Amino acid sequence: MDWFVRRFIKSALAWLGLGVTLGVAMAAHPLWIIYRPAHVHMNLLGFVTMMIFGVGYHVVPRFFGHPLYSKRLGGAHWWLSNVGLALMVVGFFMAPHVGERSVPVLATGGVFSALGAFAFIFNIWRTIDGPTTFRRIAEAPASRRPPLMPNDS
Ligand code: HEM
Ligand code: HEM
Repeated sequence: MDWFVRRFIKSALAWLGLGVTLGVAMAAHPLWIIYRPAHVHMNLLGFVTMMIFGVGYHVVPRFFGHPLYSKRLGGAHWWLSNVGLALMVVGFFMAPHVGERSVPVLATGGVFSALGAFAFIFNIWRTIDGPTTFRRIAEAPASRRPPLMPNDS
C-alpha cells in the first residue's frame, strides 16, 4: 500500500477527532460558534475529503486495472492537503480576532488545499484513462488491435 494512502486515512481520522472535539466545545460554549468555519473544514475538508482521497488512491487503480498515474503527485498531494488545511484552520481561528490580517494565512492555506484537490483530479483522471500505450491500442481500429487486451470491453 502506498504511504500516502495510509497517511490520508490516518490524517482523516485525526481531523475527525479534532473537528468533533471543536463541535462539542462549540455546543457546550456557544460563544465559540465564531469558530464554526474551522469546525466545518476540519470535518468536511479534513475528514470527509481526505478519507475519499485515501480510499480513492487505493481503489480507483484496482477498479480500472491501471497503475496510479503518479505516486509522486499523490505524495505531494498529501502534504498540500494537510499543510493547506492546517493553515486554513489557523486562519479561521484568527479571523474573528485579527480581521483582515488573517487573510494571508487563510488564502495561502486555501490555495494549497485547492492545488491538492486539482492534483487529485488530474492524477485520478489520468489513472482512469490508463497508460498511453493502452490508450493507443484501445483507440486503434479493432482489426489492428491485439486480441485479449486488458480492459478492452
Ligand atoms: C460530535 C460531533 C459534532 C458536534 C457536537 C457538532 C457541533 C456543531 C455545532 C455546535 C455547530 C454550530 C451550529 C450553529 O451555527 O448554530 C455545527 C455546525 C456545523 N457542523 Fe458540526 N458538529 C459535530 C460533527 C460534525 C461533522 C462530523 C460534520 C461533517 C462531516 C459537521 C458539519 C457541520 C457543518 C457543515 C456545520 C455548519 C452548518 C451551517 O453552516 O449552518 N459537524 N456543528
Ligand atoms: C480549497 C478548499 C476550500 C476553501 C479554500 C474553502 C474556503 C471557505 C471559506 C473562506 C468559507 C467562508 C467562511 C466564513 O464564513 O468565514 C467557506 C465556507 C464553507 N465551506 Fe469551504 N472551502 C474549501 C472547501 C470546502 C469543501 C470541500 C467543503 C465541503 C465538502 C466546504 C464546505 C463549506 C461550508 C459548509 C461552508 C459554510 C461554513 C459555515 O456555515 O460557517 N468547503 N469555505
